[in-house]
This record gives sequence, C-alpha cells and structure tokens, in this order.
Amino acid sequence: MVKIRSLELGEFPLLLAPMEDVSDPPFRALCKKHGADMMYTEFISSEGLIRDAVKSVQKMDIFEYERPIGVQIFGSEEETMVQAAKIIETVNPDLIDINYGCPVKKVACKGAGAALLQDIPKMVRLTKAVVEAVKVPVTVKTRLGWDDSTKNILETAERLQDIGIEALTIHGRTRAQMYKGPADWTLIGAVKNNQRMRIPIFGNGDIDTPAKALEYKNTYGVDGLMIGRAAIGYPWVFNEIKAFLAKGHIASPPSIEDRILAVEEHLDFSIRWKGEKVGIAEMKRHYSNYFKGIGHFKEYRTRLVTANELWEVMEIIRELRGAFIAV
Ligand SMILES: Cc1cc2nc3c(=O)[nH]c(=O)nc-3n(C[C@H](O)[C@H](O)[C@H](O)COP(=O)(O)O)c2cc1C
Repeated sequence: MVKIRSLELGEFPLLLAPMEDVSDPPFRALCKKHGADMMYTEFISSEGLIRDAVKSVQKMDIFEYERPIGVQIFGSEEETMVQAAKIIETVNPDLIDINYGCPVKKVACKGAGAALLQDIPKMVRLTKAVVEAVKVPVTVKTRLGWDDSTKNILETAERLQDIGIEALTIHGRTRAQMYKGPADWTLIGAVKNNQRMRIPIFGNGDIDTPAKALEYKNTYGVDGLMIGRAAIGYPWVFNEIKAFLAKGHIASPPSIEDRILAVEEHLDFSIRWKGEKVGIAEMKRHYSNYFKGIGHFKEYRTRLVTANELWEVMEIIRELRGAFIAV
C-alpha cells in the first residue's frame, strides 16, 4: 500500500498531473470518474494567492468527491510561499505540492518553478519553511536537474526527504529539455532504488499507453505513475492502464458515443463552473483531443472552435452524433 502519511493510495496509484489551463475541476471530474487515484490542481502562484488575485484563488477550489487531492503552488520567496501555503491549508486539501519543475519563462524567469533547480540550497530552504508552516503533508514535483550537466536529482531527493517532504514526483527531463526528446527514467529509477529513500517516488513523463505503464513500472520500480498529456481528451487512460496492470486486459477504446458523452459532461461542468461564455471558450481547447484519430472530425472541429453560443455548440454536437453514430 502506497501511503502519504495517513493517506492510502492503493498498491500502485495513477496520479493526474497538475496542468495549467487543463486540470481544472471539470477536467478533473472526468479523470476521477475514469480512474485517477489522486489529482492535483493547476499550479497556483503564491504571489498571486496572497495578493488575492481572482485567478489564483479560484484555482484553489476543490470538492469532497475529488479526494485525495493536492493543491500545487510555486514561488520564489520564502515568506510568500509560507503565507500561500497557510491560505491553501484553509481549504483543507489532502496535501500541498510544490512545483520546482515548470520551465516556462513567466515562471522560471521569476526565480520560481524549475529555476530553483539552479539553486538547490534555496529550494531546500523554501521547502523546509513550507513544511514547518503547515500541518498537511507537503510533497514536491520536480525535474532531473537544470540541464545535462546538473542532473542533481539523487542528492536533491535525499535533501528534500531529510527536511520532511512526504512524497516526490520526478519528471524525467531537465529544464533545458523543456518537453523535447524522450523522458529519461533512468535517474527516476535510481532515486527509487536509493536505499536511503523512504518516501513514495512517483515517475512522470511520456506515459501514454498501458504497455508503457507496465514496462516503466517493472523497469524503474516506482511507487506510482503521474500522467499528464495522455489524459487530455482521453481520461479513460487511467482505467485502461489499471485493467492492463491488474489482468493484462486490453480495454476496448471508448466509442464515439462515449467520447461525445464525455464532451457533453465536460462542457456542462465548464459552463456551470465558469459561466456560459468562459466555459464555452475554454472548452475549445479540448475538442480535438477528445476526437483525436477520428476521421472526418475536422469539419466539426472548425465549427466547434468558432461557435460562441451554447445553442450553436449543442447543434454541432447533435449533428456530430448523427453523423458518427448512424454509420
Ligand atoms: C498544458 C500543460 C500544463 C502544465 N502545467 C503544469 C503545472 O501547472 N504544474 C506542474 O507541476 N506541471 C505542469 N505541467 C507538466 C506536467 O505536469 C507533466 O510533468 C508533463 O506534462 C510530463 O508528463 P506527461 O508526459 O505525462 O504529460 C504541464 C504540462 C502541460 C502539457
């Protein structure tokens, strides 16, 4: 049983990765329904949160049915991180996760996210301050290192464990790699196999099929897998992997009707969550993912991403259903 303090996550948990602009409550609802064992919010700027920025505060909303769920923060200043963590504690998440992996400029250039990979003593200091400030478990998500010459994750993992983090997720790339090239899991495996490590180690990067999940589980011995991009438009990936790991069973892929129902569910929650205008607008980034690989979807996609009224969207979905289900 994989445990983060008293949180029981099952024998081999599959985690939904935190993804900005993606892993909001509507998307998480689908991932939960289809088997995600633990989920995270989008990352939240600690600065934004203490300034009470609406966007940051809204990202903190979590629901009972989502448990176990972690709220993720990033930042570069100790005092700000501590204050933000205390604010997050008031919404009672199962854990607080700190992001030291985000490579994008608006985060890393402000000294937050992956930038801390260049200053491990500071990363350790920030983390320690957060661990000491809150009662909930604190976990970390990070990368192998800053670049090829500084893949310091083995040492970093030990140091973070020593100051009290309770789980570590490692994305098998450096900051310099951004998302390019395949993730290298060798060092993730080395962290897991380090005799000094006691906390759960979750592997992340490029898991997109049940076969790969099984192979990486066996090869690297991690305690669980975190899945990001493969779940976008395909929340079924969690249960598909579970069925394969448990029984070698290859699930039949979702039918077109399943995909349409998922889109309807996602859209409905988006509208309830964000209001009609924003809900419809933000749903646009999901359509092609739900219908990836489905021939003749293109013309519907073009219409879906240009439709701004709910009646229009519903009409296109109705036509789509007619066109695909009838054949
Ligand atoms: C659109 C997008 C947004 C992301 N936002 C976050 C984030 O908010 N916090 C974080 O720790 N990682 C973020 N990531 C990184 C993912 O959590 C994950 O580490 C990465 O995508 C690799 O996993 P995958 O190959 O399963 O997608 C994001 C990735 C994507 C594609």
